[in-house]
Amino acid sequence: MPVNPDRLPGQGKLDVIVGTQWGDEGKGRMVDLLSQNADWVARYGGGDNAGHTVTVGKEIFKLHLTPSAIVRPELAVMIGRGVVVNPTTLLDELNMLHNRNIDVDPDRYLIDNHTRIITKDMLMEDALKEAVQGGKIGTTLRGIGPAYTQRTSRRGPEMGWFENANFDTDLKNYFEERIPLIRAMAQHPGVAETIEILTDKASSQNLSASEQRYLNLLQAATSDEPLDIKKETETLRKQLGQIKPYMGDTITRAHNLLNHGKDGLGEGAQGHLLDLTGGTYPFVTSSHPGPIGMEESFNIPSSRFDRVIGVTKAFQTRVGGGPFPTELSDEIAWKLRGTGANPWDEYGTTTGRPRRVGWLDGVLLKYAAKSSGMTEIAVTKLDILSGLEPQICVAYKIDGQWVETIHRVDDTKYWEPEDLKYETLPGWEEIQPGIKDWEQLPENAQNYLDRISEIAEVPVTFTSFSPEREGVVFRNQ
Ligand code: IMP
Repeated sequence: MPVNPDRLPGQGKLDVIVGTQWGDEGKGRMVDLLSQNADWVARYGGGDNAGHTVTVGKEIFKLHLTPSAIVRPELAVMIGRGVVVNPTTLLDELNMLHNRNIDVDPDRYLIDNHTRIITKDMLMEDALKEAVQGGKIGTTLRGIGPAYTQRTSRRGPEMGWFENANFDTDLKNYFEERIPLIRAMAQHPGVAETIEILTDKASSQNLSASEQRYLNLLQAATSDEPLDIKKETETLRKQLGQIKPYMGDTITRAHNLLNHGKDGLGEGAQGHLLDLTGGTYPFVTSSHPGPIGMEESFNIPSSRFDRVIGVTKAFQTRVGGGPFPTELSDEIAWKLRGTGANPWDEYGTTTGRPRRVGWLDGVLLKYAAKSSGMTEIAVTKLDILSGLEPQICVAYKIDGQWVETIHRVDDTKYWEPEDLKYETLPGWEEIQPGIKDWEQLPENAQNYLDRISEIAEVPVTFTSFSPEREGVVFRNQ
């Protein structure tokens, strides 16, 4: 790897791990793997809309906020100010980790005191907005959009409010502003319609967990008293009191660590195609999943990054609404998605929703690689393609012309099949579980990875072929 000229002698390295698709690329396990060479790991964006799965031996950890590297006891972890935190989820996660003997001592776990807090009104607003728009975006209903909207409009609570003498009054003022807005939105006819549809459905069949959550939030928002200010304030006081030992200044900590030669890893959530400005807007999340998120969360310019590692699933998935050019709905879709019986099947970690699936979209991968400054790619879930003849989309027909590169992702539409050019590559039967070297991958699997490198114009440096820590091989460079 070339040495970054912007890193001064003695300073630590800084690598960033980003998703290159619509999230769920398997970043958690790649962070776990790469963090063995780091001293600290920092989560920089998103909230508990993310779900990162890490398998350690027989144990599976599903994390939404805590950096995946927490499972390695020697590392320090941080949650940056670019993240939005639901205190209930954070505390549940800290308890879960503690109960499973993972060290979550505040000595090794720091949350920025400017990290924004997700409050109950934001959860309701998320559900109301979905109902008003007929469920168009299909958010995770975790209050992510409303929390970032509050931040952008310089409103809404942050961790540091807890240390403020005016905590009660500030929260009261905030909630008093919000309740009339919730009440007004709850009047929209789309809300009553959605409640009726969900209630009807519930009378004849079980609602999925995310549908039940949707219904609960809408019912709470339309009730006589959507929010009890006193109760909410008390709950938050108690929760933030428990989080207080973890609060501090992550920016100074990150800079100090780097200046003392400590190597860091930035952990992204979601994927670059869900980026608020660079993604398939409006079907995006409200943060910056790419490296720009690390810059803004920790005040570290991208010129200071050593490696930007783009985690790419060997095929394409998406949850929620929005264009998906290579989407499949035939029996191959079932093979790619799995039945849901295995933890690695394509069902949302956060919402349990079945993911939409399709062939790898090389045009979008090239776009993501270019626009996020990716230096290398890690391809995950290669084993899922075993037994298939994999296809890669290599061009879109735009205005009658075949193009292999796009500069604006808004050019991604609901294409007709004849507007997509695919390459079919020779398949492989199986990847042996115990293999240790790149050369032991089936030749056609190596060819598939080489083709990904060529299309993205970025080297594929490692690949995973099973969920265990051992199921990864690196390419010798
Ligand atoms: P939000 O982030 O909950 O506002 O949802 C906005 C869009 O991003 C929806 O299409 C979600 O399904 C999608 N999304 C958010 N987080 C994730 C994730 O971690 N993986 C995959 N999709 C996500």
